[in-house]
Amino acid sequence: MSTLSQQPSEGTNRERPTRAVVRAARVLAEAGVQGARGEAEVLAAYVLGVPRGQLALADGLSPDQRCRFDALVARRAGREPLQHLTGSAPFRHLELAVGPGVFVPRPETELLAGWGVEQARREAAPLVVDLCSGSGAIALAVAQEVPAARVVAVERSPAALSWLRRNATSRADAGDRPVEVVAADVTAPDLLADLLGRVDVLLCNPPYVPADVVVPPEVSRHDPAAAVFAGADGLVVIRPVVTRAAVLLRPGGWLGIEHDDTQGAAVPGLLAGDGRYDSIAGHADLAGRPRFATAIRRRDAGEPRVPGGAGG
Ligand SMILES: C[S@@+](CC[C@H](N)C(=O)[O-])C[C@H]1O[C@@H](n2cnc3c(N)ncnc32)[C@H](O)[C@@H]1O
Repeated sequence: MSTLSQQPSEGTNRERPTRAVVRAARVLAEAGVQGARGEAEVLAAYVLGVPRGQLALADGLSPDQRCRFDALVARRAGREPLQHLTGSAPFRHLELAVGPGVFVPRPETELLAGWGVEQARREAAPLVVDLCSGSGAIALAVAQEVPAARVVAVERSPAALSWLRRNATSRADAGDRPVEVVAADVTAPDLLADLLGRVDVLLCNPPYVPADVVVPPEVSRHDPAAAVFAGADGLVVIRPVVTRAAVLLRPGGWLGIEHDDTQGAAVPGLLAGDGRYDSIAGHADLAGRPRFATAIRRRDAGEPRVPGGAGG
């Protein structure tokens, strides 16, 4: 572990962090990595075991640390995701364990999670469901930020489920209310049959990329395909989720679904076409691209119907 209180060593065989970062940033930029300088800083801070903000004050990299750093930079230049190299991904106020087999949570999804937190806080003891939970990012953020919430996280992939359970256990150990993990297919017509008409807030960041879209190497080689792609129009998971959410939500309950930036009209259109939602709205991400759609389960659309009926 580096000592932050000392100045970087001079005249030793240590390499100053700033120098190592400049060297690595050049390698990463040449490999086509966006935000190369910032990523080089994250990797240097990781190897030195210091917060990124204190990198300039840290001791230089020892020969052993420099070897580890160079190996990580080479892997990143080969387009392994940064979060796989450090083993964790920041999400709102959390650090989530991630690696092969699970989708790396993205910053833009923090907006959907934040919207869900706001809606959940309107209720004294809300029931919140996170469909397509992956690492558990949305579910665990809500559990942390809305301690009164009962949160149910649904995921189908066995590999993702093991990351989700690991993150859920670690957050419960840290004192958050435990999230309930359900292994299920969110497109199943009988999904969460014990929660019909009871859900206050339903959130979903499903796979939504149309099948023929070319994605960056970090995504095509390292995110599971089932986490990213969803048929020719990218809507094969969203369609059944819109239908099922209408029977899971209580009248007046809130729905939020993330989508591709090309689906800013299609997803609100599906919600409107269903007929059981109102207050349908589109939301943009920080880059101004359409990113998620929200709606309220209409109070005058009848009570949710039992599975097998036309309501589900
Ligand atoms: C885009 S990732 C989102 C993960 C997480 N919610 C997040 O925001 O980081 C989509 C997730 O949905 C899961 N998934 C895909 N199809 C599913 C289905 N039919 N039923 C349940 N989960 C599904 C994938 O395994 C993946 O973990």
